[in-house]
Amino acid sequence: MSKKIGRNDPCWCKSGRKYKACHQAFDDRIARMAQMGHIVPDHAMIKTADQIAGIKESAKINIAVLDYIAGHIRAGMNTEEINTMVFEKTTRMGGYPATLNYQGFPKSACTSVNNQVCHGIPSEDVVLKDGDILNVDISTNLDGFYSDSSRMFCIGEVSPEKKKLVEVAKECVYVGLKEVKPWGFLGDMGQAVHDYAFSHGYTVVREIGGHGVGIEFHEDPWVGYNSKRGQEMLMVPGMMFTIEPMVNMGKVDIFIDDKNGWTAYTEDGLPSAQWEIQVLVTEEGHEIISY
Ligand code: MF3
Ligand code: CO
Repeated sequence: MSKKIGRNDPCWCKSGRKYKACHQAFDDRIARMAQMGHIVPDHAMIKTADQIAGIKESAKINIAVLDYIAGHIRAGMNTEEINTMVFEKTTRMGGYPATLNYQGFPKSACTSVNNQVCHGIPSEDVVLKDGDILNVDISTNLDGFYSDSSRMFCIGEVSPEKKKLVEVAKECVYVGLKEVKPWGFLGDMGQAVHDYAFSHGYTVVREIGGHGVGIEFHEDPWVGYNSKRGQEMLMVPGMMFTIEPMVNMGKVDIFIDDKNGWTAYTEDGLPSAQWEIQVLVTEEGHEIISY
């Protein structure tokens, strides 16, 4: 953990209370877990009450944008039109799309169709057609507070195989969420996600995962879904991260489009589905911040 604080000093969490009456026992418990060899979070990963309030305001926009586009997505539309809707709705509500110009990403959303695993770039050339499955991934910056979530959309009449993939990918998120509680491990969540996908004959992408989120768009820890129970980082109240497994119908392998440097595809060309939620670890368990 970080530098020593006196028992009567103000707590690092800015609650205004003395350390001994606030986070001292919490820090001691984390230190004991670290001594046992576990990976533990540092204070920068623990959100204060004010930060959580700001992030929730950001998430209101993120959720509203997804609700808004859900009412407009239809066959015949191109993904650039979705991008325009996202930019306009987000900025009208006072936020800014966090992906826009993020490390050179050119658009206000990721739109990933069928065999695109994630980071699809909206384009007039990508026209949605009957039977497509589409992930729209939205992230919002409001006054420096970040939210991030994504949903799947089925365009028109989708095959039972693809529909099943979309449903199981969503269930994976909620099976993982059940494991999110203080003093458990990210690996508890990761293994639950993986095992559920595997039980349906699917695979979960290894190279790309979730992440801490809130004060930065992408913060530590990295969150994988091929991890093992009892391993990876300890979860403690105040931590916030995404659950966003990419579930492949076929093989686990992916490749990145070498022309745009962003978009991931399944190696075998079979479809992939992803839902993303943003989660806060609380004293009681968890709270969904964005979905
Ligand atoms: N919202 C995506 C995520 O879940 C953002 C990826 S970065 C981008 O982390 F630049 F590709 F948008
Ligand atoms: Co994310």
